[in-house]
Amino acid sequence: PRILVLVSGSGSNLQALIEATRERDYPGQIVAVGSNRPDVLALERAKRAGIETFTVDHQKFGSRDEFDTALKAEIERHSPDVVVLAGFMRILTPGFVNAFRGRMLNIHPSLLPKYTGLNTHQRALDAGDQRHGVSIHFVTEDLDGGPVIAQAEVAIAADDDAQSLAARAQQQEHVLYPIVLRWFCEGRVQLDGEHATFDGTPL
Ligand code: GRF
Repeated sequence: PRILVLVSGSGSNLQALIEATRERDYPGQIVAVGSNRPDVLALERAKRAGIETFTVDHQKFGSRDEFDTALKAEIERHSPDVVVLAGFMRILTPGFVNAFRGRMLNIHPSLLPKYTGLNTHQRALDAGDQRHGVSIHFVTEDLDGGPVIAQAEVAIAADDDAQSLAARAQQQEHVLYPIVLRWFCEGRVQLDGEHATFDGTPL
């Protein structure tokens, strides 16, 4: 399968995916990396790995629809089988999301359905949670609300702040995303209606 990764920032998840997909037996290859921001570290990481990159700068568009139309056209030039959102910080229109339904994944830094949206680490701390974590889900029209495929948990320590907690959660992201993407590439994980399935069994 052909993998296309969308990024907005530092690209540490992208780096983990680059390293995993380099392994000889990995069932997919990253064919392109796209960003909505020029000059981000994630694009540098892709270039260093010899992967094609493109930028569709959202600031140059008058509306979300125009931006999404341009982004979709760029993506389709690469004929991906799966679109992987890795720290991609734009809300996508329903038309865009539905065009890639069942073949677009996102990673979100919380134990969904808790804490959709931003500032998830601080919110987990403020709530006095003992456990926190990360989720990988299919992207649907429901922001951060698509069917969850897999989660990884971390313990919250008494002396954690948002930064220390984020760092611990991100280590889990870098382990989990390559694994889940592998399952997707192998056809083991699918979106069946409103449910994610693993080897045909609803999750
Ligand atoms: C990750 O923590 C992801 O969960 C969140 O944004 C961060 C992206 O980090 N949505 P990176 O760009 O992969 O380093």
